[in-house]
This record gives sequence, C-alpha cells and structure tokens, in this order.
Amino acid sequence: MIHSPGARYHKRTDEEVADFIKKLELQAQETTEERLPLYLTVGIPHASRILDVGCGSGFVTRDLARLTNGMVVGIDGSRQLITVAQAILATFPNAYLAMGDAHRLPFPDNTFDVVTCNLLLMWVDDPQRTVHEMARVTKPAGFVLASLEPDYGGKLHWPENPRIDPFFAGEAIRKKGGDPHIGRKLRSLFVTAGLQTTIGIGNNRIWTCEEDKQYYLHSRDFYIKVLKDADVPATAIDHWEYEYLKSLDEGLQLNFFPQFYAIGKKPSTDPKP
Ligand SMILES: C[S@@+](CC[C@H](N)C(=O)[O-])C[C@H]1O[C@@H](n2cnc3c(N)ncnc32)[C@H](O)[C@@H]1O
Repeated sequence: MIHSPGARYHKRTDEEVADFIKKLELQAQETTEERLPLYLTVGIPHASRILDVGCGSGFVTRDLARLTNGMVVGIDGSRQLITVAQAILATFPNAYLAMGDAHRLPFPDNTFDVVTCNLLLMWVDDPQRTVHEMARVTKPAGFVLASLEPDYGGKLHWPENPRIDPFFAGEAIRKKGGDPHIGRKLRSLFVTAGLQTTIGIGNNRIWTCEEDKQYYLHSRDFYIKVLKDADVPATAIDHWEYEYLKSLDEGLQLNFFPQFYAIGKKPSTDPKP
C-alpha cells in the first residue's frame, strides 16, 4: 500500500486514487440537481468572489465556475487532486486553484462573498475548526454553504441483507478516517461558528430502481472492495450481489441515504436602523 503526501487529506492509497477521482466525477454529475438550488439560494450567480474548500479534482468547482462570472477559487490539501482540477478547469478563466489546509485557510478575514464545501466536513480532522475558518474568510452578510454531507445512520433500504448491510452503514468510512455521522452535526457546527443557520436534506427525491442500478454498476468495484477488505467470503458477496440486482430488476428495492446541507449567513457588521 503506497501513500503519497496528499493522502493525509484525501485518505486514499495511490492504488485507490484513480477510482476515487472517477467516483467524485460520478457523484458530481449525480448531485447537480441537489446542489443547484443551494447555489442559487446563496447567490453564486451574482457573487464576485467564491471559495470552494476541499475542491478535490474540481468537478464541483466547475459547476460553480459555470454559474457565475465571479472569481471562483478552489483549495485542497492534495497536490495530486489539484493537478487534476487544473486540467478540469483549464478552460474557465474565472477559476483559480491553490493548495492549502482547510484548518488554516490562507486568506485574510472577510474575503469571499460565498464559501462552499462539498463532502469535505466528513473527512477533515477538525470540522469545527474548518467551519470557523470558512466563516472567518466570509464577508459580513455573506454565506457559508456545506452542500452535501451524508449521515450513514439515516441510511434506509428494503429488502435488507443483515449480513452485508452493516459494512455499508458507516464502518468503511470510519475505518478510512471519516465521520459517518457528520450530517447530524451540521447545525451544531454552523451555529457554534456564529452563523445564522438553515439545515436541510438535499436529496429529498427517492431514486428509481433503474437509477440505483446504474449507480451500483458504476461503483461496483468500490462495493466489492469494501466487502473483500472486510474478509467477507466470495460466495457471500456473490449471493448478496445477485439478490440486490434481482430486487432492482424486479423494481421493488427502495434506497434512501440522507445528504444534509447547511447554509450559514455571517452576521452583518453593518447595524440596520
Ligand atoms: C470527498 S473529497 C470531495 C472533493 C470535492 N469537494 C467534490 O465534492 O468532488 C474531499 C476532499 O477534501 C480534501 N481535504 C480533506 N481534508 C482537507 C483539509 N484539511 N484541507 C484541505 N483539503 C482537505 C481531500 O483532499 C479531498 O479532495
């Protein structure tokens, strides 16, 4: 197992990085409909300076850059992912990339109109410090947005597989160093950072069996690897996969996995009459 220096941030081995980047691209495509209304709510189209913290390979940053003529800055701790993001954003003259740590953002106080992150807080070592930093670099009356942060404790599906389901109920994330219960903590994190906070669930639509099947087939390598790494015998993996795909083909499987968002408004320093 080889770890490059950026692995401290993205928490993947060198062998896993290519699949991780593919997964981020797929996730970005599949969550566009959930993120877009949030971007409109926080005023991305009219903002002049936007910061995307933990921008990774830049697929989500590209959605932001498409939506505005303002300057969009993506920052990430991994040089490897920043290099990918540079290629993804090469044709966007309003996009800039930097390397840096979310716990110590290299920007002065009150710099950006909107500071966003997507799937970041579950991976940082100190989410409270990260939200404090995001609030610090936001201008008064500007917005901090965490657009998607899951909570594995709220994962539901039926028909179940009691032998296999626990492996996907957050254990794999915890083993990698992530917090599978970050979704429920968003309000506390944002309010503690002094933000006027609204919490919601971005994915309030239940996917069809066809959508779930497409997602599974795209991400199949990830699911099988989790089970193999947990020493689940090949026969049990085959049986689980057969039953799961059958339930999707028969149109009776239901999956729900809550993706929370938080919108925080930084109080205005300008006292209203
Ligand atoms: C799951 S990825 C999400 C990437 C991107 N936001 C997206 O949605 O496609 C999490 C990203 O956060 C970055 N990251 C984690 N901890 C960080 C930290 N302390 N400072 C900067 N980046 C960090 C990782 O390198 C990785 O690119």
